[in-house]
Parts: sequence; structure tokens; C-alpha cells
Amino acid sequence: MSQNEISAIDDPVELVDEQPDVGAVRREVLKGLTAATKTLPPKLLYDERGARLFEDICETDAYYVTRTELAIMEADVSTMARELGPHCRLIEYGSGASVKTRLLLEHLDSPAGYVPVDIAKEQLVETASTLSADFPELSVTPVCADFTSEFTLPDEPDDAARSVIYCPGSTIGNFHPPDARRLLRHAATVTGEDGGVLIGVDLLKPRDVLERAYNDEEGVTAAFNLNVLDRINRELDADFDLDRFRHRAFFNETDRRVEMHLESVGPQRVRIDDTVVAFEDGETIHTECSYKYAPEQFRALAGSAGLEARQVWTDPRDYFSIHFLVARS
Ligand code: TRP
Repeated sequence: MSQNEISAIDDPVELVDEQPDVGAVRREVLKGLTAATKTLPPKLLYDERGARLFEDICETDAYYVTRTELAIMEADVSTMARELGPHCRLIEYGSGASVKTRLLLEHLDSPAGYVPVDIAKEQLVETASTLSADFPELSVTPVCADFTSEFTLPDEPDDAARSVIYCPGSTIGNFHPPDARRLLRHAATVTGEDGGVLIGVDLLKPRDVLERAYNDEEGVTAAFNLNVLDRINRELDADFDLDRFRHRAFFNETDRRVEMHLESVGPQRVRIDDTVVAFEDGETIHTECSYKYAPEQFRALAGSAGLEARQVWTDPRDYFSIHFLVARS
């Protein structure tokens, strides 16, 4: 082993670990599956395998989101970095593989720290270590937490001019609007008067494009969705038969959202610990929503959270948008 490898192992980034424990997962699973309309919290999709499958989704031809956002970043990252200003501390919600972040960090003028926050621990530690090695001047402090609940952020370093919460992808779309508003309002409190929120917002577009994106032909999205049942089998004492559930995703035009479900193939009973849950044929577990916004709708949502857009970037097809939000004056 070379000297370098040893020091990389001896000097790992320090993780703040607030990952929900198995008891919390069990409570949420049972609550969701015993309700009149069955649901599972979307964050459960992101265990180690789920996080990897999501990266694979981003590579599929049909999933335009990542590719479009990256193209916007490539075109406009210098302007974004200028907006964020020198000595900016970047806090990323749902950091995943931090691909777009890398681009931003390369362009920021003397960034005062990077705080990736994610629920998928293995991916978080791995990404944070790689980033820390690639940006030796940068202080990287990963936080493993569910950013929809209370969690502790490291204090803003003294040399930071401001903190900006970065929330790329269509993460904000995975929240029902009232929850998205709460999250934005909280983000505004965390970053304060001088800070801001740099956020990805997926835009409304024709149904066929949306439905294709969430039903890729390779079946990666189906595997990602079904993995949540496998995870429950692995982590809790449960007996979901994965061959008897089917991935279903469709655009709900009334609510302007893509809905992801797992549909029961035939009637069946599933045991989770001591609880038995009965499914009718065709009954679904709703696993995730991905809300799509018209630009003015998102502006109104941000406004109701006390934020306004200082700048908005989009791609030539108007598929996706990135907003830099600041406290409303
Ligand atoms: N944040 C992603 C999105 O809304 C999550 C996602 C993509 C997803 N494909 C999915 C969630 C399929 C569940 C099932 O675009």
C-alpha cells in the first residue's frame, strides 16, 4: 500500500451521523402500510442499493432530468458562481453522487466549506472522501440525516461570507407543495438575510416525455422502486414477494405530478413483523411523487416561503430550471 493510500484511510472525512435507526424505519413503514391509502416515505428508496440504482436512472436515455440540469450548469456555472460570491459555504440537500456540485465547486471563488447532507450513508462517505481528496483546500463535513426532519448543521465557519443551500435534481419536486414550502422556509431561516438557496425545479412538459422518463425501457426505475420492498424484507422481518408487485408510474395532470406506485399482482397478504397487511388485486403502495412546476407556480411557492428569485436559468427546451432564491426584500 502506498503512503498516499494509508493517509487517505487514516484521515477520513468526519461524518455527522444522524441516520434514522431501524426503529424509526419500522414505525414509518407500518404507519404507511396500515393507512387507508397505502404509502411509503420516499426517503426509504435511498438505501445503499437504491442510491446506486438512482445513479443508474440518471444515465438512462429517457431520464432527461440529470442530463438537462448538467447542460444548464455547464452553460451557466460561471454566472451562478458569481451570484453565490466569494467565501460561500455550500450546504447540499440530497447530495447523492455530487456530480453537479463538483462543477460548482470548481467555479466558486474560495468556497468556505462544503456540507453534503444525505440519507444514503455509504454513498455520502464515499463521495465526501473523494471530493475532499480532489479539493484539498476545501473543508468537507458530511452530515448523514433526513433533511426533512430536524438535524444539526455544523456552525458556519468564521471565514464564510454566506451559506447557500444547494438542492439540485428534482428533489424539491418529491415533496407535496405544503411540505416543499416548509422546507424552503426552513432553508431561508438557515441561510438568513445574506444567504440563498440554489435549487433545481423540473418543469411541466408533455405527458409522453414525463411518462417515458419514469418508465425507462431498461427497467432501472422499476428495479429502483421495487428495491424498497427488498429493503424492508432485509431490514425488518417482512416477506414481500417481489414478483407479485409491479412498478407503475404515470402523470397525474390534475395535481401536476408524476406518481410512482407499486401495484399488487393479485390479492395477497404480507407480513411485517407481527403485522399482516392485506392487498387487493391492483391495489397500490404510493412510493413517490415528482411534482412538475410552471415557472410562475414555483415563483409563487418560493414567495410564500419568503424567498424570491434573483436569477433563473433554463435550457433551450424549457425542460428544467435552476433558481437562485434569496430572502424577499
Ligand atoms: N428525484 C427524482 C425525481 O423526482 C426521483 C425519482 C426519479 C424517482 N425516478 C424515480 C422516484 C422513480 C421514484 C421512482 O425525478
